[in-house]
Amino acid sequence: MERCLRLLLLLLGSGLGSAFYLPGLAPVSFCEEQKVKDNCKSQIELLVNRLDSAESVLPYEYDAFDFCKDENERHPSENLGQVLFGERIASSPYKFTFNKNETCQKVCQKTYDPKSGVSALDFIKKGIQLNYQHHWIIDNMPVTWCYYFEDGQKYCSPGFPVGCTITADGRVKDACVINSEFNKKDTIYLFNHVDIIITYHSGKDENWDGARLVAARLEPKSYKHTGDKAIKCEGPPMEIPKDLTSKFQITYSYSVIFQENDTIKWASRWDYILESMQHTNIQWFSIMNSLVIVLFLSGMVAMIMLRTLHKDIARYNQIDSSEDAQEEFGWKLVHGDIFRPPMKGMLLSVFLGQGTQIFIMTFITLCKFYSFSYPLCFRFSHTV
Ligand SMILES: *[C@@H]1O[C@H](CO)[C@@H](O)[C@H](O)[C@H]1NC(C)=O
Ligand SMILES: *[C@@H]1O[C@H](CO)[C@@H](O)[C@H](O)[C@H]1NC(C)=O
Repeated sequence: MERCLRLLLLLLGSGLGSAFYLPGLAPVSFCEEQKVKDNCKSQIELLVNRLDSAESVLPYEYDAFDFCKDENERHPSENLGQVLFGERIASSPYKFTFNKNETCQKVCQKTYDPKSGVSALDFIKKGIQLNYQHHWIIDNMPVTWCYYFEDGQKYCSPGFPVGCTITADGRVKDACVINSEFNKKDTIYLFNHVDIIITYHSGKDENWDGARLVAARLEPKSYKHTGDKAIKCEGPPMEIPKDLTSKFQITYSYSVIFQENDTIKWASRWDYILESMQHTNIQWFSIMNSLVIVLFLSGMVAMIMLRTLHKDIARYNQIDSSEDAQEEFGWKLVHGDIFRPPMKGMLLSVFLGQGTQIFIMTFITLCKFYSFSYPLCFRFSHTV
């Protein structure tokens, strides 16, 4: 017996000692283009998710808007978790090479002609007015947009707006506050450029090869690109006219910078997002709230059970001496039933086993693909 226990402890110990990854969450290593190996790639893919808005209940797929699209668009296979959370992830035309800085790269150009209809542009305008947010993904991490509040506190949001507006009475709405260049009354501005900063851990003094990405940040910008060929990312912001009178062009562009930072551990790369969240207090409050309700309800059920039991026991004591003591009732009926073997024992155990497996697999599936919504799940899988 003791031996058995010791073996069990040993097994448990070794299981806890060596970390394991949930499938699909294993780290990916990146190398420069000329040093690519089997376990180390240089292409960094940016994935796009659906757009949502706090001012509207309807999320839209990236493709619903007339943004730049990937020529061979792929949808990384959707699974139960993604369907449940309504995610719509697709590949994008933004493709980077590890540790290759790029400035002002053109992604695509869209032309709108008032003669052939501008409904696609109108849809973008509507999206901006409702403050729709992009959600981009690099290496299983959300691309965040970090900004400072007036009180100097930094906030990192896992999305960034499509554009921003200034109302007719000169009120600066939403993201237009970030730059004083957005100053024309009654105007819609489009963020058609992004400055992306990808931070990586070089892997020096670590037991793995290549570099690992630890943060991806971006800053939405608005530039009125002129000319068709060479674009310079500077100058006045891109406004969308109220009514089109002539052909109108939108050019999308990006810049990317790679930064080395070996002080950030790969396993804690989510920390900066979690730390900047403002809602920690609210979460504690709701946890306490649920706990109190659960305790209260269990207390009530326990009280009811106790009273029933009490009544039964009193009755047993009363009729102990009388003749019909043989007849069982109340709680005594239960004891006969509990040890009665079920009619189809094998079937019951099969169902129980299957049910447990389905339950656990559902949990793991949700965690595995929902590292965005549930960074806690994600971190759990790295610390076990
Ligand atoms: C990319 O730009 C960053 C910031 O300017 C710089 O620190 C880094 O060395 C550059 N990387 C390369 C490969 O040029
Ligand atoms: C690396 O990141 C840490 C934490 O975000 C920061 O304090 C430090 O200045 C960064 N180091 C470099 C070289 O950027």
